[in-house]
Formats: sequence, structure tokens, C-alpha cells
Amino acid sequence: MAEVMQQVAVRLRDNYPYFHPFYAGQMLKPPHPIARAAYALATWINPNNHALDGGRASSAMEKEAVAEIARMFGWQTHLGHLASSGTMANLEALWVAGKLHPGKKIAASAQAHYTHHRISNVLRLPFAEVPCDARGRMDAQALAQMLARGDIGCVVATIGTTATGSVDPLPEILRLRAQHGFRLHADAAYGGYFTLAGNLTEETRAAYDSIGQADSIVVDPHKHGLQPYGCGCVLFRDPSVGALYKHDSPYTYFTSSELHLGEISLECSRPGASAVALWATQKLLPLERGGEFAKGLEACREAALRLAERLAADSRWLVPFPPELDIVVWAPRAESARLASERSQRIFTAAASRGLHLALARLPVEYFPSLASDSSDQQETVLCLRSVLMKPEHREWVDQILSLLDAAYSAC
Ligand SMILES: Cc1ncc(COP(=O)(O)O)c(C=O)c1O
Repeated sequence: MAEVMQQVAVRLRDNYPYFHPFYAGQMLKPPHPIARAAYALATWINPNNHALDGGRASSAMEKEAVAEIARMFGWQTHLGHLASSGTMANLEALWVAGKLHPGKKIAASAQAHYTHHRISNVLRLPFAEVPCDARGRMDAQALAQMLARGDIGCVVATIGTTATGSVDPLPEILRLRAQHGFRLHADAAYGGYFTLAGNLTEETRAAYDSIGQADSIVVDPHKHGLQPYGCGCVLFRDPSVGALYKHDSPYTYFTSSELHLGEISLECSRPGASAVALWATQKLLPLERGGEFAKGLEACREAALRLAERLAADSRWLVPFPPELDIVVWAPRAESARLASERSQRIFTAAASRGLHLALARLPVEYFPSLASDSSDQQETVLCLRSVLMKPEHREWVDQILSLLDAAYSAC
């Protein structure tokens, strides 16, 4: 075993330094040490949270941990459980929406996670893409026009888009729901935990304060919740949707008449260890405003604000809009969208060779009016630089990040 583990350790070196503040690229965050320890401990038992037969303690811990997440959005009652990912959790929410509004469209913004379209295909439900405003948020007016046709059964509001961390205008979408009666799903897979942050803008806070009015919510503990991968979560406001899952298993549920998680979940076997890790993390860092966990999120947002302010004040860069959460996007100033895109790609590579790991995002050229003005260019998108500053340590590393970015820019 020692020999093989040595090989494993060597193989695992071939990675980016995700734990380090110079990894400021994709949505990756190391799990908290208590989550690692609790997960490892639970794997000695290897509970299966599909049924109480397979994971008694870990199923109880899952229900407690998930109820704490539901309370974070103001729900005292709910139906919900963990899932293996945000995609699986969203699949479940849209599956319920499709059962309640059969044959009607699922609508999500042009900046919603790409899987919503694919999930709609899997569910054989038509999909409608709602245009975004110049800040990457669902355009509520465009949605209103689409709703007038009467064929939309569910609207997905993204609370923290993947590319730019933009938050859809939930209060306006809720007003439309009162008028049109669609089902509202909040995809807060990335941004959900920011409801605990005390440093959101008034507009963003208003969206977060209305999440509890959605019919279903997805939030991923394996993104901002300090958990190892394999931990998404879906919540339903009305527990009676549990009736839609009704099935008859002749071989699983024998040890208890209590509800088994497998009876309210599309997935069957699931790691009880995920629930144990989440439960332990939330015991150590409760989901409360002003608490240590919330302070970590506030630090991430502050890091993003600092980086965006410094970039916006530098004539070499174009920052389309200030970050709503902790994701910053920016492009090098150039004569055209094509030239800016090519330069972004070069800077991305030059930064990585200096140990600064950024990400790239392809965004509509309208977000960058000065790049959209050259009609001969005919580029619909701009490849720009993107940073997800999701480690609290990023706040203290903005200067160092900028100096490596500076060196990368000079080299291009
Ligand atoms: C807003 C949003 N929804 C859904 C997902 C998909 O989540 P997962 O990668 O856990 O399947 C992501 C992933 O980045 C996301 O940002």
C-alpha cells in the first residue's frame, strides 16, 4: 500500500495550486479541515444515505444539516436533501416543475448555467432562453414579453451566475409570478450562501431577501459551503411535492416506517459521508449572519470589490460592471473585440507561467461598449479574463495578484 500511495501522491502533484490565493481562476475552493476529517471518519463505516437501512446516523445528520440550510432562507418547513451535484439538484427541481406544469417551457437567462437547457432536454420539456441586461442579469422586461405567450411553466432565477456572479432581479420576477402563476426555481448553486453576507448592495440584498418566496432552491455546499465534491442540495418550499416521488421498492425499506431519504430523491445510493462532513462543518461554523462563516464570504466579496476597483482605475483594462458577489470579469482595452480576445488569451497564458492562475470567459460584446463600436469586427463575444475570488485569503492578496497580472500584461 505504501508504494502505491507514494505513486498516488506523485500523480496528484499534476494539479493547479487550488488552495493558494494565486489560484484565482475557476470556482474551486478547498474543503474545511473539519469536513475532510469528518468525511474520512465516516468512510470507515461507508454509510449509504439512500435508506435508513444503509445509513441511520448519517441520514439523521443529513436531515438536520439540510434543515439548517433551509432556515438560512427563512424556511421553517421544507422538503429537501443532499444530491451529488448542483446539476443533479437542479434536475430534481426541474423534474418537479415539469410534473406540475407538464409540457410547458422551462425559462432561464442567457447567462444561466448551461445545464438547465440540457436538463430540459433530458426531461423532454421545451426550453426558452431569456435575454440578459448589460450586467449579466435576466432582463425582466424580456421575460414579461415571453410570459405573455402563456407557455412558460417554470422560470429559473440564477442567484449568482457562473460566469459573472450576477444575481437575477428576483423581486421583479416574483411580481411577474403573481401575474402569470409560473413555478419559480432559484438556482443559488453558487451564490446561495451569500445570503449571510452583510456587505451586499441594496439591490442584491433585495434579491436575496426574496429567495424564500421561490418554490425550490438549489445551493451547493461543495462550492461555497466548504465541502468536498459530491455535495449539492435541493430544497422545496411545499413538502407535499414529496408525493411526486412515490415509488414502490420491494427490496430497500424495511428497518423503519420513518421517511427514508431515497423516498424523496431521484438518486439512489448517496454517500452518507457527505452529510456527516456537512453536519460537522455547520456545527463548527453555524450558518448565521455575523458569524465566522459569513465573515469568510464577506472577505471574498471584499477581495472582488478591491480587485475590480483597482482594475477599473487602470486605463489598460475594461471592467464591464462591479462584482455583485466575488467573481470579477475584465478585458484588456483594445481597438476591437477580436484584438481584446486575443490579448486576453495571451495574458491568461503569461499569468499562468508566472504562477497566477486566472480563468477565461466568453461574454457578449455589449457588456463592453467600447469594443462593440467597430462594426467591421463582427464579434458577438469578447474573450475576457475572469477571477473567482472565493477564498477569504484573497482579500489580503489583491496587491500580489495585481503585480503578477501587471507582469503578464507587460510580457504580452
Ligand atoms: C449557477 C450554477 N448552477 C449549477 C451549476 C452546476 O453545478 P455542479 O457543477 O455542482 O453540477 C453551477 C456550476 O458551476 C453553477 O454555477
